Amino acid sequence: MTDIHTNADRYDAVARIFHWSMALLIAYAAASILIAEELPRGDLRSFLSTTHRTAGAIVLVLFTARVVWRLFHKPPPLPSTMTPLQQKMAHFGHLGLYGLMALVPIVGVALTFRRAGTIDFGLFQIASPLVADRAASKPIKEIHELVAYALFALVGVHVAAALWHQFVVRDNILERMR
Ligand code: HEM
Repeated sequence: MTDIHTNADRYDAVARIFHWSMALLIAYAAASILIAEELPRGDLRSFLSTTHRTAGAIVLVLFTARVVWRLFHKPPPLPSTMTPLQQKMAHFGHLGLYGLMALVPIVGVALTFRRAGTIDFGLFQIASPLVADRAASKPIKEIHELVAYALFALVGVHVAAALWHQFVVRDNILERMR
């Protein structure tokens, strides 16, 4: 087993905080809305859809900060156990994750604004600058769902690849982001 134990092999603390906080928020955004859609109208359903929008909007804020951080802080090189093709696939996968992590919440905000909804941050709210247009919001909802499911699929591949490295290749890859 190759041990990853030097700082040069690991993402820095800020990158690790971005990674895990966004992973948690995306998991919450997914779980909250999928549960909400199964519930009858009521307080719990409305709490879950309100916090879905909040969690998703925080993902967008963190995404912006993460990209700025990433521009000035090079990530550690990929393990030498990976072939050039695998490294290329990993880079494309990560690029896809970045793209979808931005696109899903941007379309979510567009959907909320098109419905004249608000985004609630507890201490303050962001109201829609638009009037409600249910008909126009329908295709936006479909796009939001489509890109969200593409994000979930890519996250699934990302997690499977990480577990394959950790337990089959045994290159201790999880240490890089721990
Ligand atoms: C990473 C962030 C996000 C993820 C993963 C996500 C995912 C989803 C998913 C899976 C659905 C349900 C699709 C279905 O019906 O099967 C949904 C619906 C929805 N999302 Fe998001 N979303 C995110 C961010 C946002 C943001 C930032 C907003 C708005 C501020 C938002 C607003 C909505 C709305 C209004 C719906 C429709 C709920 C309904 O019709 O009752 N989402 N989202």
